[in-house]
Amino acid sequence: MNNVTDLKPKIRPIVQLGNPILRQQAQPISDITSNAIQQLVMDLIATAKDAGGVGIAAPQIGESLQLFIMASSPNKRYPNAPEMEPTAIFNPKIIETDDEISKDWEGCLSVPSIRGLVPRASRIIATFETIDGQKHRKQYDGFLARVFQHEYDHLIGLTFLDQVTDNKDLFSEHEFYQLTTD
Ligand code: NI
Repeated sequence: MNNVTDLKPKIRPIVQLGNPILRQQAQPISDITSNAIQQLVMDLIATAKDAGGVGIAAPQIGESLQLFIMASSPNKRYPNAPEMEPTAIFNPKIIETDDEISKDWEGCLSVPSIRGLVPRASRIIATFETIDGQKHRKQYDGFLARVFQHEYDHLIGLTFLDQVTDNKDLFSEHEFYQLTTD
């Protein structure tokens, strides 16, 4: 890492459903510690925070690269989210998925005003690199396994709409809030 003090996070526009970049296979990143990538990580974290997201993937700000942020903390959109430091995940692979599937609500900053009940593996094992270039192998459960799978999908051209098994599981955000505040 060099001259990171010169970098300032920028809130970037979020591309939305229909933009072809959301349908592309993202490219692996080899220069994780470069200034350009450090800047991109800062921008992703600032953009996710500004928009109330618990995760964001690089293609969502127009960069077709294998990078996403997990930034779970309770907020208006996800009041029950666990608290964690924002973590940048590079070049991820999901190497094992549990047979147990659970359905829960998801939304996406690139799919505004829609929520869906999405089936996901309850537990996964993934490999990835972190911002220091270190390789990791880690198990995720429950909500974080869900966030990981959602963000990983963005790197292979999928959104949560592609994982919903019944269109009746799609709700407008307005109806979703009615449902969850009753
Ligand atoms: Ni998303």
